[in-house]
Amino acid sequence: MKAEILRLLRETDGYVSGQELCNKFGVSRTAVWKAINQLKEAGYEIEAAQNRGYHLLSVPDRMDETELSSIRQTEWAGCETYYFDCIDSTNTKAKELAEDGHPTGTFVVADQQTAGKGRRGRSWDSLPGTGIYMTLLLKPDINPNNASMLTLVAAIATANAIHRVTDAQALIKWPNDVVINGKKICGILTEMSAQFDYINHIVIGIGINVHNESFPEELADRASSLLMECGKRFHRADLIEAFLEEFERTYASYLQTEDLTGLQNEYNSLLVNMGRQVRVLDPKEPFEGKAMGITNRGELIVDTWESRKMVSSGEVSVRGIYGYV
Ligand code: BTN
Repeated sequence: MKAEILRLLRETDGYVSGQELCNKFGVSRTAVWKAINQLKEAGYEIEAAQNRGYHLLSVPDRMDETELSSIRQTEWAGCETYYFDCIDSTNTKAKELAEDGHPTGTFVVADQQTAGKGRRGRSWDSLPGTGIYMTLLLKPDINPNNASMLTLVAAIATANAIHRVTDAQALIKWPNDVVINGKKICGILTEMSAQFDYINHIVIGIGINVHNESFPEELADRASSLLMECGKRFHRADLIEAFLEEFERTYASYLQTEDLTGLQNEYNSLLVNMGRQVRVLDPKEPFEGKAMGITNRGELIVDTWESRKMVSSGEVSVRGIYGYV
């Protein structure tokens, strides 16, 4: 009921009367009063005026179930939401939930991770009060060979969500880092459990640097946060909701063809490497060329002086010739 009260307060410009809340939720005045008090304790500023009712003045930067469900507009993404102040890794938790039978759309988010995982076996710094650490669980009926493209589907959704909320030009560094002004703001780690032709589950884990004020020296030239790039603080729940909405759209497009046919143009329009010289760090033989966009399977098209090459994301990483992107 707390989330429903919050939703109603959010949607109402003026005051919502106590009686209206009692009637709407079929509860007593005391129950409404208790719920309002719990919201206040959680940091919501709610004015209570005699004979007029309740009026929401400000909301805290929370990402818990109450906050997220009070702004939720999605059909299935976030159908079940689990928030943790601190957890080892949201990806690990989402995998456990998958094995316990929780459905597609189950969503895990934390304010802090003690064992945040990055790509290529690296760790992901997950300090409290600074970022969004979130994982979406999917159980798609698709060929496991097509699953790696989902990381690109999530990258489009994340870049769009960041743009929608912050107005910043969030772009994608192939295959799936989201960057602003050439610095990494967000990383995505997709993990899959599958038999040879059947997917048990996929978890898409996303870390967004939101309120970080600085980065360690070794990362400072490549990593940044929304606060550092935009000069203001954004409400993390708004970013999450925007991501879930965007992901429902990009995922629906992906499912139609089980590839990126319907998303290729959109991805290329967000691709920061587009038309730029890149160095492909192929362990067998590194090479340089001009990035020309992606194929409908998410490979990066690179024109070298002698030929056109299709680069798969699993095998190599790509660096800009002039800096990180
Ligand atoms: C990268 O290396 O760029 C990917 C980083 C992915 C980090 C996120 S944070 C939420 C989720 N849980 C994890 O343990 N990792 C991902």
